[in-house]
Amino acid sequence: MIEASGLTKLYGAFRAISDVSFSVNHGEIVGLLGPNGAGKSTTIRILACILSPTTGTASVAGHSVLSESLAVRRQLGYMPEHISLYPEMEVATYLDFVGKLKGLGGTARRVRVSQVIEELDLGSVTRVYIGTLSKGYRQRVGLAQAMLHDPSVLILDEPTIGLDPEQAAEFRQLIRGMRGNRTVLLSTHILPEVRMTCDRVMILARGQLLALDTPDNLTHRLRDASEVVAHIEGPQAEVETLLHSLPGVHEVRVTSQENGGVTSYTVRAAQHEDVRPSIVEAVSGRGWRLFELRSREMDLEEIFHRVVDQPQP
Ligand SMILES: Nc1ncnc2c1ncn2[C@@H]1O[C@H](COP(=O)(O)OP(=O)(O)OP(=O)(O)O)[C@@H](O)[C@H]1O
Ligand SMILES: [Mg+2]
Repeated sequence: MIEASGLTKLYGAFRAISDVSFSVNHGEIVGLLGPNGAGKSTTIRILACILSPTTGTASVAGHSVLSESLAVRRQLGYMPEHISLYPEMEVATYLDFVGKLKGLGGTARRVRVSQVIEELDLGSVTRVYIGTLSKGYRQRVGLAQAMLHDPSVLILDEPTIGLDPEQAAEFRQLIRGMRGNRTVLLSTHILPEVRMTCDRVMILARGQLLALDTPDNLTHRLRDASEVVAHIEGPQAEVETLLHSLPGVHEVRVTSQENGGVTSYTVRAAQHEDVRPSIVEAVSGRGWRLFELRSREMDLEEIFHRVVDQPQP
């Protein structure tokens, strides 16, 4: 549904994105994740036909962003990073105005305006001036204008920025509700948002696409070791020595100091090595007590930092 191939954008001599290629399937929700300045908005603006790439090509719903921008715009709803709405217009008037700009005729326009008002729960603010709306409602109006012509693809640049946690959660719910019907590419620098909303995550840093996969696959692929957390009651130095001596163990860290006689250790082993049975056996063999034993998953935040903090090739 969205295809990008070798996208590169230079601003003067500065390379904002470099050889970015990816594809997003129909009905998929993909998160474009990256720190400030990574090139997220640059990528998105190329797909939305706002900016031309220096080299490379892209298509949306089968139409080239370079040579068929009108056809792309018909299939695409775009919500920019900085939404410029008309503060002196009422919400319903504004949406009607946008509908006209998008070429929707009288009846179709009235139908779509009331549908998006319903879908985005804007019913209570239709007669409110946009300038007096809360941030959350303004974002919804931004999404409403993007969705007005019923596009099959939505590209949203940091749609939840500036929202309070409750508003952001509602917004994510809205997006999740589109899964399977619309194709959504959204950018964010909020990690948990990706996990909560997206089927796949694309990590962009310093203009380079570093990864594109499901959050689960990324977790699995980037994990070169397994970690187990063990809470053990026993003499700390001896416990550490014992854990170290177990087959497959690379590293033992004391992760929290003794608390009522129990110390927490993090044990690192090779990726496919499950050291839990040998920990149970060894600890009970010494007559110490094991209070908790679990494997520790690397979360998306750790993955992100590992990918992004890798030195540049
Ligand atoms: N018009 C421009 N002229 C020169 N440099 C630009 C221009 N637009 C963006 N850049 C630079 O290109 C890089 C990528 O910018 P971009 O806006 O795509 O990043 P981003 O990932 O969207 O960041 P943010 O999270 O801050 O929105 C940045 O270093 C930015 O300063
Ligand atoms: Mg941006």
